[in-house]
Amino acid sequence: MIINIFPKPVYSAPSGLAPEYLVQLAEAMEPQYRPRQQASCFWQTEGNLQEQEVFAPLVELGVERAKAFMSELGFVETNFYVTQMWGNKYQQKELIPPHVHNNSFLSGVLYVQFSEGSGNTYFAEQYDSDLQIEIKQPTIYTVGEQAVPAKQGDLVMFRSNIPHSNYPNRHDDDRITIAFNMMPCEMGRKEKFTYLKWNG
Ligand SMILES: [Fe+2]
Repeated sequence: MIINIFPKPVYSAPSGLAPEYLVQLAEAMEPQYRPRQQASCFWQTEGNLQEQEVFAPLVELGVERAKAFMSELGFVETNFYVTQMWGNKYQQKELIPPHVHNNSFLSGVLYVQFSEGSGNTYFAEQYDSDLQIEIKQPTIYTVGEQAVPAKQGDLVMFRSNIPHSNYPNRHDDDRITIAFNMMPCEMGRKEKFTYLKWNG
């Protein structure tokens, strides 16, 4: 018997946001992409989209889903706030290598313009060691990374310290996502001297 301890939960569900609203978000971001440092980079906006009116419904949705996600995992009901929100546009062949979101508790991705072949998000295992024996067959214990397949309009959320990446966009159409970081408004217990409240 193999007992699978400490699994890593990733939330994935349709956002329920209207297709017209997704188009509106893409249009709002279009003039906001920063100049690219290198031709191989993808396009990104500044990280303050959460302050703009048009993104307010997405901010609200992210917070509600984060509360529900953490509650379903067994944590006490905790309010969250969005610390950063930014747009990403990947043209054909563009990708992002594995990375984590520092100084953040929970991160999310809304797939604004996305279809099969746009490049899924992959989550990577964090090994304590780089020692490795050869793999005979792919299992959840051997592969080291796992895709979370998404559809346009889906919302995916995960703990910010899980390394993740996007495979190259194989489409002519741009892959457009909105990423965001969230922090709990309060954590810990007053009687244990672990209490921390800094927002909300
Ligand atoms: Fe990321």
